[in-house]
Amino acid sequence: MDLREIKPGIAVISSIHWERRLFDALIPLPEGTSYNAYLVRGTKATALLDTSDPVFRDEFLRQLDSVPSLDYLVSQHAEQDHSGLIPAVLERFPSAKLVCNEKARQILSAHLPIAPERFQIISDGESLSLGGKTLQFIFTPWVHWPETMCTYLSEDRCLFSCDLFGSHLATSDLFVTDQAQVYDGAKRYFGEIMMPFRGILAKNLEKLSAFACRLIAPSHGPGYNRPEFILSAYRDWVSPKMRNAVVLPYISMHGSTEIMAKHLIAALAARGISVQPYDLAVADIGKLAMSLVDAATLIVGTPTVQLGPHPAVHYAAFLANYLKPKLKYAGIFGSFGWNSKAIDQLVALIPNLKVELLGTIMQKGLPDGDTLLKLEALADAVARAHRDDPEVICP
Ligand code: FEO
Repeated sequence: MDLREIKPGIAVISSIHWERRLFDALIPLPEGTSYNAYLVRGTKATALLDTSDPVFRDEFLRQLDSVPSLDYLVSQHAEQDHSGLIPAVLERFPSAKLVCNEKARQILSAHLPIAPERFQIISDGESLSLGGKTLQFIFTPWVHWPETMCTYLSEDRCLFSCDLFGSHLATSDLFVTDQAQVYDGAKRYFGEIMMPFRGILAKNLEKLSAFACRLIAPSHGPGYNRPEFILSAYRDWVSPKMRNAVVLPYISMHGSTEIMAKHLIAALAARGISVQPYDLAVADIGKLAMSLVDAATLIVGTPTVQLGPHPAVHYAAFLANYLKPKLKYAGIFGSFGWNSKAIDQLVALIPNLKVELLGTIMQKGLPDGDTLLKLEALADAVARAHRDDPEVICP
C-alpha cells in the first residue's frame, strides 16, 4: 500500500492487517483491522499523526520514503498499534519533535525507548501551525486510555480521532462505502473497547460537538466523509435508551440447559421481544459484546460444574461485568445434577451491572412442565419491565 491523499495536503498511511484475527490476545477480529496514520503538510512544516503496529515496520517506513522531512510526530494514543513505530520514525527524522500530552509522555516513556528531549508537551486546546494547516489538540481522556486525544485540523474541518469512531475492519476503502458493514464494525469496536467508558465518552462527544467537522479520520477502518452517520450512532450508543432486546448467552453439557434456553427464546419472541442467543460453546464473544451495547436485558443460562457456573458462562459474565453495558434487567436459568451454587456465584460476578434480577430458575436434571412455566413467567416479567420502562424503545 502506498501513501494516499484524502484531501490536498492530507495523506493517509494505511497498514491493512487483513489476516489478523485477535487483538490484545482477547478481542476477535473476524474482519481483520487496519491502522491509519495521517501526514499533514503545511507551507512551513509537516506533521505525522500516529504511526502503526510494529509488525508493519518495513511497509510503514517505505511509505515514508517520499517524505523528505518531518517536523512533528503527534502521538494521540500510546497503545502499541499506533505508537509502536515512534522510535523508528524518530530515528528516521532526527530533528522531529514528538508532540503529545503529559499523560502520554509518561506512558510512552515507560514502554518505548524515547529520549526525553524529543518530547514537546502540549495542553488541552493548544494549537500548532504548520503554515495554512493548523492542528488543534483536544483532550478526550478515557477513549479508551487516560491519555487519549483527538486533533482538529481547522482549515479542512477534519477531526483525527484515533481509536474513537474507529472500526476493526480491514479495507482498502479510504471512506465508508458500505454503511451497514461499517456500522456493524464500529458497533463491535464500541462494544469491545469503548463501552466501559460510556459516561465520560458522552462528555467527550459533547466537547467535540463544538467542532463542525466535515471529515472524521479514525485510526482504524475507513474515514467518514459524512460524519453524521457515525456521530449519531455514537450518540445512540451512549444514550440511556435501550432496545426491547434480550441477550441470552448459554451453554449446555447434556441438553437440559439447552431445552430451557430454546423454550425461553420462543417465549420471549412470542412476546415481541428481540432475542440474541449465544451458544457459548461456539459463540463469537465480540458479537456478544456488540449485542450488549443497546439491549435492555441479559439472561444467562448455565449447567452446574463443581457447584458453580460452567467456565464459559463464568467468562461471559466476567466480560459483561467488565464492559458495563447499559442493561437494566437480568435473569439466570440452568440445571444441576445434585446441588448448585451457580446462581449465587453468577450474581457475585456482576457487581458493575446495576440490574434488577427478574427471575432465577434452576432445574434438577431434565426440565419438567413446572420449569417450562417458570421460564414463561420470566418472559412475562421481561415483557412487563420493558413495556413499563420509558428508556426501553418498545413498538
Ligand atoms: Fe487502536 Fe487503543 O488502540
